[in-house]
Amino acid sequence: MAQSKKLIVGNWKMNGSAQSNFHLMAELLRTDLRAEVCDTAVCVPFVYLQQVKTQINEANPGDLARSDALIALGSQDVSAHESGAYTGEISVSMLKEFGVSYVIVGHSERRQFHHESDQLVAIKAQRALAAGLTPIVCVGETKEERESGMTEAVVKRQLAAVIHLNGHCISEIVLAYEPVWAIGTGLTASPEQAQEVHSVLRAQLVAAGGEGAKKIRILYGGSMNPKNAKALLSQEDIDGGLIGGASLKAVDFLSIISAV
Ligand code: 13P
Repeated sequence: MAQSKKLIVGNWKMNGSAQSNFHLMAELLRTDLRAEVCDTAVCVPFVYLQQVKTQINEANPGDLARSDALIALGSQDVSAHESGAYTGEISVSMLKEFGVSYVIVGHSERRQFHHESDQLVAIKAQRALAAGLTPIVCVGETKEERESGMTEAVVKRQLAAVIHLNGHCISEIVLAYEPVWAIGTGLTASPEQAQEVHSVLRAQLVAAGGEGAKKIRILYGGSMNPKNAKALLSQEDIDGGLIGGASLKAVDFLSIISAV
C-alpha cells in the first residue's frame, strides 16, 4: 500500500469532441469527487486541454496545480526532446506552463503503434520529472508473454529502464500496470493476478528507491469498470486505476471513484 489516498485517472485516448467533453466534464464537476480519499485526473487529447482546463477552473477557481484542485489535468504523451525542430511534438515545458500535472508515458498503444522503446519511455519520464510533472509510467505484458510465463520479466525490464535513468527521483513517479491483453478487451486481470504483479513492481521500486519508494502509487489499468473496480482497488498494492473506456461515461467513471 502506498499512500492512503488513491488516484483515479481517466485516459480518454483519441476520443471526444468539444460537445461531448463539455457534458462529461460538467457531470464530473457537478458531483462529489470524494477528494478527501481520492485524487482524480483526466488525461485528454492535447487540443482539448484548454477546454477542459477552462471548465475545471470555472468550477474550482484558482490555480489548477493546487493540490486541492477538483480534477487534475494530464496529457497522454510528451516529447522526449526539450525543444526545437520536432514537428508535431509537445514539450514538457509547454505542458508545465499550461498547468498540466500528469503525463502518461509508455502506454502500450504507443509502445505498439509508435514503436516506443523502454529507453525512450525512460527519457520521457526523466523529462517530465525534471519539469516538475508527474509521469504515469505504464508497463504491461502481452497475451503471448503472459502465456509463456514472461509477465514478471517483461514488467521488470520495462520498469528497470525507468529506474536506471531516474535514480533517486523514482519515488516521484506514478506507475501503472496495464496488461496489454486486458486493455479495451473486456478481459480484466483478476484482483489476485493484478496484486501479484503489483507486489513484484513494489518490491522492485523499494529495492531501487528505498523507503521513499513505498509511497509510489501503482495503478491498475485494463477494462476496469464499475463492476470490478471495488475488488481490484481493495488489493494491498493497488493504489488506484487508469481507466480507458469507462472514463468516457460520467456515470461509470464516478462509480469507479465511489468504489474507492
Ligand atoms: P480500458 O479501460 O478501455 O481497457 O483502457 C485501459 C487503458 O489503456 C488506460 O490507459
